[in-house]
Amino acid sequence: MSTIRLFSLLFLFLNPTNAAALIQNRQNPKGISLSTDNTSIIFDSSVQLDGVPLRFKISAPASQFTSLTNVPGAASLPNNPGPLGVNVLLHGDGGQSFFDFPNQKVKNHLGVVLLAPSTNSLWGQRTGQASGLSRPDGIDDAELVRDFVKEVLPQLVAFNSKDVFFTGVSGGALLLSGFFMPAHLQEFDGAGVLLLCGGMPPQVEAVEGFEGNTRIHYQSTTNELELLKDSIPEAIRAYEGLALAGGLSEEKVGRLQTADNSLEGGHCEFDGEGFVSGIQFLVDNFEDIMLEGGDGRVNGVNVLTSVVENEELRFV
Ligand SMILES: *[C@@H]1O[C@H](CO)[C@@H](O)[C@H](O)[C@H]1NC(C)=O
Repeated sequence: MSTIRLFSLLFLFLNPTNAAALIQNRQNPKGISLSTDNTSIIFDSSVQLDGVPLRFKISAPASQFTSLTNVPGAASLPNNPGPLGVNVLLHGDGGQSFFDFPNQKVKNHLGVVLLAPSTNSLWGQRTGQASGLSRPDGIDDAELVRDFVKEVLPQLVAFNSKDVFFTGVSGGALLLSGFFMPAHLQEFDGAGVLLLCGGMPPQVEAVEGFEGNTRIHYQSTTNELELLKDSIPEAIRAYEGLALAGGLSEEKVGRLQTADNSLEGGHCEFDGEGFVSGIQFLVDNFEDIMLEGGDGRVNGVNVLTSVVENEELRFV
């Protein structure tokens, strides 16, 4: 993948006015390949959905793919349930985690990554440069994610629709917390959301009956980006408030909603070293953090602290 990115950069350098061609190159699916651990098939394709082209990758055991795919060994029927859950990961600004696909190792959840339909690979912003918390296309992108998981994914792979998790990295976490969760999380009862190095309070009204009755974990680091030092705690307070207003006890909210930023590092550097390795490291711990019975330990630290009375994360 790094070869492809390098090629893209060279291409941009040689053709500074031909940005559209570069985007086309990034949007080109690469077909079928093996996961890095050689145990899953990665199906890299795209679909026209809600009027835009959406590139996606699915990592799953071959047998779980449906006969509508061209995966060798595909043995499932469209719209039939399967034993595995799903972890849908949304990349940060620029799309790095789409290409790295840190959730491609399948344990109990298939890995899915989506590439934002955006000139600069930004969730919630389809054209123009990144502009921090401002996500003018957040509503449309949230709907796109919802429609992909509800309508397209079941055609391609078998999974347990009561076991669908979402992971957002940075800008992807902004889309999830700002737009996707209030508008659509209600439809994914029983799963949860992992917000990595990002978060903001709902930017749209939560759908009627939204209880926040879902697992949410916020993971940040000691040296988070300045603009997120305010917006992550605002997100925590807002979702805690929604859950309490929905009638959940503080004790229940404390089990469902947890937050930590004690890991030492900069933005997304959960291993204290780098952006890419930090995200990989945290995603490798997904089940310990998000699933019931997980020990919540990352680097020897228990990150599962109830948000109740822990709304103000302490940054340095
Ligand atoms: C996967 O297969 C390739 C090619 O056979 C091999 O070089 C690589 O070491 C394998 N990786 C793992 C994690 O088994």
